[in-house]
Amino acid sequence: MFQNPLKAKTGRNDPCPCGSAKKFKKCCMNKDAYDPSALKDLYYKQYKIRLKNQKDIQKLRKAGQLVINTLDLVEKNLCAGMKTEEINTLVHEYTIAHKAIPAPLNYRGFPKSVCVSVNEVICHGIPGEQVLNDGDIVNVDVTSILDGYYADASKTFFIGKGGREAISLVDIARECLKRGIKKAQPGKTLGDIGWAIQSYAEQSGCSVVREFVGHGIGFDFHEAPQVPHYGQKGEGIKLVPGMVFTIEPMINLGKKDLRILPDKWTAVTKDNSLSAQFEQTIIITEDGCESLTPYEL
Ligand code: MF3
Ligand code: CO
Ligand code: CO
Repeated sequence: MFQNPLKAKTGRNDPCPCGSAKKFKKCCMNKDAYDPSALKDLYYKQYKIRLKNQKDIQKLRKAGQLVINTLDLVEKNLCAGMKTEEINTLVHEYTIAHKAIPAPLNYRGFPKSVCVSVNEVICHGIPGEQVLNDGDIVNVDVTSILDGYYADASKTFFIGKGGREAISLVDIARECLKRGIKKAQPGKTLGDIGWAIQSYAEQSGCSVVREFVGHGIGFDFHEAPQVPHYGQKGEGIKLVPGMVFTIEPMINLGKKDLRILPDKWTAVTKDNSLSAQFEQTIIITEDGCESLTPYEL
């Protein structure tokens, strides 16, 4: 039993966040403690969110560490002249060698083991014959399944030295993830995370992609809830311990609009402006959050 996480920031006369349809003061306001198994049932019933327990967290940390090690390996090997297919080979072989499965491969028909998204590609770039050039920015998005558990993270790298605008965009995208993670605490809401990201991106002169969002993860690749990178303070589902989800803002230098290429996967900015993204998988804890795919932001 822990401090009641529903208690933070709910007004007496607000609808009870437990979903009972009663006022908060007539319902959970006077419960000092909560029963984790009751919360688990509640979040599943109400939102289809599957809260994770201590055993799950230990497995997720291992899956997450593998994802981070994979990104480190990619970073060490990135260079101008390389084909994006070579990144796929590195990720695929490293994942398999560590008794894990690359989650993208054959996921809804995705043909490769990793997403590689260069310059104006927002996400879901398919590795292939494209050659990386000096000055490119490239997002590498790795999701691995280890012992049945999924972890998902991505980083945007520079090939050689980036131009002034690219450096600024990548800094803004990284800071967006950092600010989103800062709001990931019990008592805050999904809207608080979205608001922190959107307001920083827009005040920096960039835009936030709407069509793709963060997601619950752990037992499956994409679980409830959806985690928008835009929104209003205080709106949306209240965060509670045991929630595991990704935050993965896609930030464009130009307008937010996108189009999908005929391969049905590759999302590119409509105005061909640069796009950058950073992603981590996090878990809400009793006093904040822990990154399960930790790297410095
Ligand atoms: N890793 C992506 C995400 O962050 C999803 C890729 S789906 C794939 O959610 F099929 F393209 F791999
Ligand atoms: Co993701
Ligand atoms: Co991802």
